[in-house]
Amino acid sequence: MTVLGVESSCDETSVAIVRDGRVLANIVASQIRLHADYGGVVPELAARAHLQNLLPVARLALEQADLDIEAIDGFAATRGPGLPMALLVGWRFAQAAAFARGRPCVPVHHHEAHLFSPWIQGAPPQVDFGAFEPNVSLITSGGHSMLVDVPTADSFRVLGGTIDDAAGECFDKTAKLIGLPYPGGPRLDRLAEEGNAAVFEFPRPLLHDRGDDFSFSGLKTSVRYFLRDHPEILTDGQGLRDLCASVRAAIVEVLVTKTVRAARRLGRCCVTASGGVSCNRALRRQLAEACQRHELTLRLVEPAFATDNAAMIAVVGERRLLHGKAPAGFDLEADPSWRLEAVALDSRS
Ligand code: KG4
Ligand code: ZN
Repeated sequence: MTVLGVESSCDETSVAIVRDGRVLANIVASQIRLHADYGGVVPELAARAHLQNLLPVARLALEQADLDIEAIDGFAATRGPGLPMALLVGWRFAQAAAFARGRPCVPVHHHEAHLFSPWIQGAPPQVDFGAFEPNVSLITSGGHSMLVDVPTADSFRVLGGTIDDAAGECFDKTAKLIGLPYPGGPRLDRLAEEGNAAVFEFPRPLLHDRGDDFSFSGLKTSVRYFLRDHPEILTDGQGLRDLCASVRAAIVEVLVTKTVRAARRLGRCCVTASGGVSCNRALRRQLAEACQRHELTLRLVEPAFATDNAAMIAVVGERRLLHGKAPAGFDLEADPSWRLEAVALDSRS
């Protein structure tokens, strides 16, 4: 089975080719430079760039996999959630390619793809569902922070999500407040590595709440007030690094504590983590420490598959096709606010 996957939900145009679980190609064209001048993603520019990039990126993926498009048995693309026009470009592209060749076009939920991305590992990369263990999964991307219970490789249940800002948003907005260029999360992480997290105390929202939801907007607001009251920090190199480390520590403590707590409550022996924020060094370190302390296995997504990529889309698409659970996809529209809960219900039926 050979599947061509397409991802275009935000600011990465990506096409991947997966054959029998092996990632033969995973090309990602990032739009970071395009949006940097605006301090964030401009939806209209993102959609136009996807239009320009998709065909060359797809050609490159086929070239790298050394395949002709006729060899593709099925197409899979992100149908949602994401920026409406950006999604539409990739989803229609995949639908058209599939329709023209009489192949299926599998609609893939972006977060379901993140959810299973930690099972893509190795060189050359390959998805290994044979090693699957029931797990609690932390998905942290730019727009979402979620905890999901994953009892099998084909079923899952959303435990909680963010009730306002996601962890990625909190990283990016804090970075913007201190004048770091877009995308701020990774830059803030780098500065934090040289800072002291014990210098400033920031709130840990919902840390002691028994539920599995997250909330990071209060933390972001407290950083804003802190900077209003201490503007001198902005020109103090070490002060700024300490601030980054302190904010990062607050975010990471909440993510790690709630993830491990949910896994223990549900009796899961394995924790997985995915999404762009799972590149965060402190998050990776502290999840590893906490899992070791509680004798949990940890499967962190490999950095290449943490930020948006089409390999994770193709992997989910291939699995659906193999299980005969994929709709042909031609009468479906892209769905910018598609909820993961809806996919979880479908996957059980
Ligand atoms: O999963 P992703 O590529 O896109 C979405 O689906 O949103 O995640 C992007 C997010 C951005 O908020 C970015 O700042 C954040 O991941 N990110 C990080 C790091 N690397 C990426 N945040 C904190 N530390 C990092 N090292
Ligand atoms: Zn994502």
